[in-house]
Amino acid sequence: MTKDQIVLMQQSWNRVLPIKNEVGIIFYRKLFEAAPQVRYLFKDDVSAQAGKLVTMLGYIVTKLNRMDELLPEVKKLGERHQQFGAEPAHYELVGQCLIATLEEGLGENWTPEIRDAWITAYNTLKNVMIVAQS
Ligand code: HEM
Repeated sequence: MTKDQIVLMQQSWNRVLPIKNEVGIIFYRKLFEAAPQVRYLFKDDVSAQAGKLVTMLGYIVTKLNRMDELLPEVKKLGERHQQFGAEPAHYELVGQCLIATLEEGLGENWTPEIRDAWITAYNTLKNVMIVAQS
């Protein structure tokens, strides 16, 4: 990912922060609509999990210019996901729901460039997490 893409992600994330609680809830609503088969992996009340996801995404966004530090942490996150029951195919669904959630949250501030940056970053995370699980 390029420096410009990192800046775009950080700027877009700053717009998410004021609505981060809603964004977390919207994400899980979309995920469970798109992939009801993963619902059982999560607790009935996903509000705490929504908070953890948003906190982790925020952390990742701040670390994009330190991939050397970030990727080992993402690897550990992937290892934990082995225990959580996440399967490689789930990552595609999670990525699609994340992009759709950000698009909804950012509204008129969403652009094709922001979309490309998030997809590029997500694919990097996804690949590291899947390898860590296998
Ligand atoms: C880049 C993608 C993802 C990120 C950033 C992410 C982030 C997180 C975080 C921060 C946690 C909290 C626990 C911890 O830190 O170890 C978590 C838990 C969890 N994640 Fe993910 N996750 C991702 C992908 C997935 C996928 C693809 C699945 C598959 C359905 C999944 C299912 C779960 C489950 C089941 C839990 C535990 C829930 C619970 O204990 O209630 N995650 N995830």
